[in-house]
Amino acid sequence: MRGAGYLTGLKNGFMKSPLLSDPRFASLEKMKVGVVCGGFSAERRISLRSGRAVIRALKNVGVRAFPIDPENRRTFMKKIRKADILFLALHGKGGEDGTLQKMLERRRVPFTGSPFAACEKSFNKKISKRHFLRLGVPTPDYAVLDKRNWRRKAAAFPVPYFVKPLDGGSSQGVFLVEDFRGSVEKLRRSITRFGRLLIEKRIVGRELTAGLLGDLKLPIVEIKPSRIFYDYKAKYTTGMTAYEVPARIPAKVARKIQSFAYRVYRDLGLKGFSRVDVMLDQKNRPYVLEVNSIPGLTEFSLLPKAARAVGISFEELCLRVLKAACEPKGKN
Ligand SMILES: Nc1ncnc2c1ncn2[C@@H]1O[C@H](COP(=O)(O)OP(=O)(O)O)[C@@H](O)[C@H]1O
Ligand SMILES: [Mg+2]
Repeated sequence: MRGAGYLTGLKNGFMKSPLLSDPRFASLEKMKVGVVCGGFSAERRISLRSGRAVIRALKNVGVRAFPIDPENRRTFMKKIRKADILFLALHGKGGEDGTLQKMLERRRVPFTGSPFAACEKSFNKKISKRHFLRLGVPTPDYAVLDKRNWRRKAAAFPVPYFVKPLDGGSSQGVFLVEDFRGSVEKLRRSITRFGRLLIEKRIVGRELTAGLLGDLKLPIVEIKPSRIFYDYKAKYTTGMTAYEVPARIPAKVARKIQSFAYRVYRDLGLKGFSRVDVMLDQKNRPYVLEVNSIPGLTEFSLLPKAARAVGISFEELCLRVLKAACEPKGKN
């Protein structure tokens, strides 16, 4: 633990944090970082938490950072112009789907994470699953329902299966169907709400997630929810889920999952960081569920947990993500 003198010194600008003294990060010292968080998606609350954590971490090491919430249209563009670089901590629609990235690329505003094209490919689960299959990365069998065919397709698909919006996050709108007749009303409401849905074979087994930080394959995290699956409540209620890092799985299986995750990350053109969600069946066969282009960034989130397990603090994680955004295109 460092004493209060260190923090006061840091605040008054006469002491440099050890991280900023590291030549890798020295160039970040003079930057004004706009942390984009909040937004309009159903994940607004989580994004605000991620944003607060990122700002705190950057300030802790002496980097100037301030929040930018797209919800406030009046100040949004003005604030963007004040920043040298944007740290995107915006989850869900409007953030992870590439909308904001497209606008920023057009205006040549530098930002963290993945470019527009990669976000667009990874956010929609139907599109990303097609990519997984093309890459030889296993993903559970699935079908896409629309307003006209949903009843026929949902009745014919073998139970149990998961139902999810094509472009959701934080498990919102996700549910399990064990018997079609018993779930028909829920399916109807869901198709009315979302227009299209993905249904996906349930993989019974263990839940894992594989994080990437630049070119670094982080250790795998095992997620052990105390509920039927890792739903919104299990994700965001303290004590409802246990986590194990590194996951206690055979080394060969762990390497296989990491290489699947990396393949997806590289091929889709993701950059800076990402997190790939995986189910492992009872025969230790992995299936990729989805890839998150802006994973949760609270200090309790999965990617920071995995980084911490290899000695990378949350502060360093944020600096690495920022640094990657300053590198020339194509580099991670
Ligand atoms: N095919 C599946 N088999 C088993 N569990 C699943 C499956 N699909 C989703 N789940 C459960 O639902 C959760 C959310 O699904 P996911 O595809 O990761 O969507 P989200 O984008 O909402 O996180 C997963 O973390 C997992 O617990
Ligand atoms: Mg997920």
